[in-house]
Amino acid sequence: MNKLRTIMIIDGGGRGATLVDKYGQSKHVGNILVVPGNDLMQINTKKKVATYQHLKTTSVKEILEICQKEKVDLVDVAQDNAVEAGLVDKLMAGGIDVVGPIRKAGQIEWDKAWARDFMKKYKIPSPSYHVFSSVKDGIEFVSSGSKASWFVKAAGLAEGKGAIPASNSNEAISAIKEMKKFGKSGEIYLLEQWLVGEEFSAFALCDGKDFKLVGFAQDHKRVNDGDEGPNTGGMGCVSNPLIVDENVRKQVKEIFKKAVNGFKKEGRPYKGVLYLGGIVIEGKVFVIEFNARWGDPEAEVILPSIKNDLYEIGQEIIAGKIEKLDLKIDKKVRVVVAAAAKGYPIDYARVRGKKVLRIDQAIKTGVRIYGAGIKRVDEDWVVAGGRVLFVMAEGKNVMEAREKVYQALEKISIEGDNLHYRRDIGWRDINRIKN
Ligand code: GLY
Repeated sequence: MNKLRTIMIIDGGGRGATLVDKYGQSKHVGNILVVPGNDLMQINTKKKVATYQHLKTTSVKEILEICQKEKVDLVDVAQDNAVEAGLVDKLMAGGIDVVGPIRKAGQIEWDKAWARDFMKKYKIPSPSYHVFSSVKDGIEFVSSGSKASWFVKAAGLAEGKGAIPASNSNEAISAIKEMKKFGKSGEIYLLEQWLVGEEFSAFALCDGKDFKLVGFAQDHKRVNDGDEGPNTGGMGCVSNPLIVDENVRKQVKEIFKKAVNGFKKEGRPYKGVLYLGGIVIEGKVFVIEFNARWGDPEAEVILPSIKNDLYEIGQEIIAGKIEKLDLKIDKKVRVVVAAAAKGYPIDYARVRGKKVLRIDQAIKTGVRIYGAGIKRVDEDWVVAGGRVLFVMAEGKNVMEAREKVYQALEKISIEGDNLHYRRDIGWRDINRIKN
């Protein structure tokens, strides 16, 4: 019998809980440490889970110390701000095996101006864009008679909320003025051509030279049904969305190939999960963004489709042998829905501390629950963040998976009628199938 390994996951939310679930299924893994983690993650595995909730994902020094003290065999860096903080580089320098991109490769996410220049250089189809470093220059640009629609985007990390749509120059001017709310992340910003089409995301495991395409998802970013209301971190996803046909798949593979080769040529090989946020316009794929991690909640529908041992996948990535990996993905469709605190993403402070009820009854219906903004206080589960937990179900098609998710969600409530979730996750594919 091989020695059981201790692994560490850097993440606090539903994505981290899904990684706990997946690493928990590995025959190599004994102990799972999560920074910061949350109290509900333990339900996803029978293995021992320790969380470090007093730490941040950017607490580089402390994380390195824990890895050395606990003799951690592998760290999975799943969160963008940890990549930007150079956690992967620091852990590698400390002799620890890491799955995740080095800071310079992760620049594809934490510096959207650099990312656009990279895409242009390596001929990756993208919207046109302009980069600005002062409010005045951006306003002058949009006031010069242009009738275009834009996405005004903070160049730095902004918890997925840094892109503001602007359908005319007045909206663009207000969006430019709003960039300051992102602090340092909004000091440099972009005006990107607003492309109209259907969005999807794709995920690849990269080892610096090669990649393996894992799967596709479709997120629902707006807070309310009908894609209305403010943008969120993501309110729900489906896997294997029908917008991804053979033609889209082929283009996506070509784009990943260009990206992986581009990183290599730039002397910053990309190792880890690469997230491609794409849009399809009349059959052609354009890249809206690349991210240096799994999506959240995309991870909740993609990771469970992987039949391989995740610890072994990590070893192949680190060894630069992903080409040889016989990656096995199941054909099920998965749906995940975020159970959020009412008022998220704008104002949900009054929901913090309220009890989350009947999680156990929801689990009994056969779904997976991935905890996010939730904690244990005495005998109760209570709200600790905007997206409280995620409910995921699988089926042979989107209808079957969706029905299971919503049956489970009917069991859950937040004290004082404070639960909010979208009831139309997967609507595009449902409409496609019905029509
Ligand atoms: N769900 C979108 C993201 O993870 O960026």
